[in-house]
Amino acid sequence: MKELSDYIKVLQENSDLPDKELGLVVASEEANVLLAPRADSVRQEHYGKDVYVRGLIEFTNYCRNNCYYCGIRAGNTQALRYRLTQEEILSCCAEGYDLGFRTFVLQGGEDLHFSDKDICSLVTGIKEKHPDCAVTLSVGEKERASYKAYFDAGADRYLLRHETACDTHYRMLHPESLSLANRKRCLWDLKEIGYQVGSGFMVGSPYQSTENLVADLRFLQELEPDMIGIGPFLSHKDTPFKNQANGSFTQSIRLVSILRLMFPYALIPATTALGTIHPQGREMGIKAGANVVMPNLSPLRVRKLYQLYDNKISTGEESAQCIADLKKRMEGIGYKVVSARGDVKR
Ligand code: 5AD
Repeated sequence: MKELSDYIKVLQENSDLPDKELGLVVASEEANVLLAPRADSVRQEHYGKDVYVRGLIEFTNYCRNNCYYCGIRAGNTQALRYRLTQEEILSCCAEGYDLGFRTFVLQGGEDLHFSDKDICSLVTGIKEKHPDCAVTLSVGEKERASYKAYFDAGADRYLLRHETACDTHYRMLHPESLSLANRKRCLWDLKEIGYQVGSGFMVGSPYQSTENLVADLRFLQELEPDMIGIGPFLSHKDTPFKNQANGSFTQSIRLVSILRLMFPYALIPATTALGTIHPQGREMGIKAGANVVMPNLSPLRVRKLYQLYDNKISTGEESAQCIADLKKRMEGIGYKVVSARGDVKR
């Protein structure tokens, strides 16, 4: 076994590739053209041409954490903070439902203003009005008992990226108050409780090595998440990483394909970060093996305020209101946006 195409064949057969060879594929710019069509055919075997949509509601940009990469970190005094009320969130869902969304993703910073009771009541409120919809939470690290309470209230899925699976790298991206061990504890708790779990990482985050990315893939093999979200690191002007280079678009696309080959069953979004770094980023992500897009359903007035990184797209064709355009764009590249919960197919 010497050539890139041999390594990729091993990946496609879903057998194990040693770390070194996996690293070569992860780092190789030539791999993209070989990977994308194979990833696409694996995706079609499992999910056909369907593209699932999730209505993303960014309901608070308050956050107690200080991750060095993130624009809504607590220490960013430039950020204008907002919280949506339960009524506002429910009206986003009502609007989303009429547009055809059958999954709502409640994402926010780690904002303790929302108690566990509040989050449970948000979940129950959505489920009462839209029993045929899935509710996904993405509200960060919590105690197991909190996760259990949200699940019992009706939450179906939970998104929590591990960000990087190497302790030393984790330390370079986060302050002392956060740890990879606790992040992993959260992910295992979520799984055990019965959530469909999503994890993932940033591509090209500062100080990231190829070995780090291989470790990310290995951790995901251990976790076997239902959803895997990745996107390029993009710098934000009011963070300690303001002068760090952005992640690579082509490497992000390459990793989407690698993920599809390694996790054929997974729900893999073409993320907002992919759409921000390249105007056709989301379409290219879909063609390279992704099968989910997450248009923004937040009220227009707050969209620009959920700035995890500079220039985050928010009012153009990625918004939920532009679902008709999204449908056309997906049809234009041979795929079909479907109105369905879009649960994982194991
Ligand atoms: N660039 C790219 N992605 C980012 N995220 C946070 N900050 C950035 C950034 N500067 C990602 C993290 C987080 C998700 C919600 O957004 O991976 O888990």
